[in-house]
Parts: sequence; C-alpha cells; structure tokens
Amino acid sequence: MTSGTVHPSADVADSAVIAATAKVWHYAQVREDATLGENVIVGRGAYVGTGVQVGDNCKIQNYALVYEPAKLAAGVFIGPAVVLTNDHFPRAVNPDGTPKSAHDWEPVGVDIREGASIGASATCVAPVVIGRWALVGSGSVVIKDVPDFAIVVGSPARRVGWAGRAGEPLVKGEDGIWTCPATNTRYREVAPEELEEMEENA
Ligand SMILES: CC(C)(COP(=O)(O)OP(=O)(O)OC[C@H]1O[C@@H](n2cnc3c(N)ncnc32)[C@H](O)[C@@H]1OP(=O)(O)O)[C@@H](O)C(=O)NCCC(=O)NCCS
Repeated sequence: MTSGTVHPSADVADSAVIAATAKVWHYAQVREDATLGENVIVGRGAYVGTGVQVGDNCKIQNYALVYEPAKLAAGVFIGPAVVLTNDHFPRAVNPDGTPKSAHDWEPVGVDIREGASIGASATCVAPVVIGRWALVGSGSVVIKDVPDFAIVVGSPARRVGWAGRAGEPLVKGEDGIWTCPATNTRYREVAPEELEEMEENA
C-alpha cells in the first residue's frame, strides 16, 4: 500500500507499506512487504529488502543496500553506499554445484537501534546489533555488536569514542562524566563498554 511520494522511476512492490510522509527517490527499489515509517527517505538507487521494517524518520542515502532481514528502528541514518549483509557464509551454489535457492540458506540480519548512524560506504556483516545512537565511521567493516552511543571505525570496526544523541563526540571530564559539547547532556560509563544517559537528562 503506497501513500507516500514515490518517484515514477522507483520500483516499489505492491505489498510494500509506505507511510504518507515517506519519500522514495529515483531508481530506488522497495521489496515485497517492506514497511517505511513516517518521514522516511529512501535515496536514489537504494535497495530495501523483502519485509524490512524501516522506523519513522529514518534516512537511507543513495545506493545503500539494506538486505533483509535487517531491522531499522526510528531515526536511523544509513549513509550512501552502505551495505547491510544477510548471508554470513555466502555461496552462489550448493556443494554439488547446483544454484542455491532461497531454501538453501538461512538469512541473518543487521539490527540497528534507535538513532544510530552508519557512515558512508560502511559494511555491517550480519548477524550484528548496532546500539542506540551509535556512530559507525565511513568505510568501516562492523563484525561484532556495537554498544549504545559508541563511535566505531576501521576494519574490523573498533570503538574510538562515545557519541551523544547529537552525534558529536562526548568529552570526558575530570570527574569521569562524559558531556556532549552540543547539548551539555551528561553520560556515565556503567561498565567498560557501557554508557548510559544520566537521569538528570530525562
Ligand atoms: C567516525 C567519525 C565520526 C570520527 O570523527 P572524529 O571524532 O572527528 O574523529 P577524528 O578525526 O578525531 O579521528 C579519531 C580517530 O579515528 C580515526 N578515524 C576517524 N574516522 C575514521 C574512519 N572513517 N575510518 C577509520 N579511522 C577513522 C582517526 O584516524 C583517529 O585515529 P587516531 O586517534 O589513531 O589518530 C568520522 O571520521 C566519520 O567517519 N564520520 C562519518 C561521515 C559519513 O560517512 N557521513 C555520511 C554522510 S555523507
């Protein structure tokens, strides 16, 4: 069911559900039973796989490939040419050389939580969870779960800092508290790889 703005060159399956305020741009493809929430933008040439649910306010940039069964919570940013894989040990053929069909392999997904961003050309190798408000640097290859608010870069991606909701790197004070330079919101480490917003922000 399509009620959003879909460019005539886009290929949107009849069974895809597109919210009224969503936009699908030139040559993008949205597969069967995929769901696009309110204000979602799917850029030129991007691909949204079968049954993928894209939360409200997500932005999927040009030529990104979101293979099912990826999950995108609300407010997720997928940069240009990002790839979310779905086959951990890919083969085109079975051991006997016959072509693999959909029944010959088990898809696994990338699960991206609220507000997280995936930088340009990064690859997330499923199965993997990208935590809330995490930030994956451009060109990274993510092979293990990323904690909430983590900034990760490189191949394989490793954490190099923490980001707040505004996206800017947090700054650590002498008291060990992390502060966002853009919003002054404060965060504290509750375990070596676990950051949480302080209750005063609520
Ligand atoms: C990850 C990112 C947010 C870090 O920004 P930053 O905090 O200003 O980072 P810095 O430049 O201070 O770099 C911090 C460290 O990470 C490294 N680094 C930063 N970005 C990197 C990347 N994409 N890949 C590999 N290493 C990276 C730096 O070399 C530096 O390492 P060092 O401390 O050993 O010298 C930024 O580099 C990035 O990739 N942003 C995404 C941009 C993007 O794709 N936008 C999409 C819309 S077009």
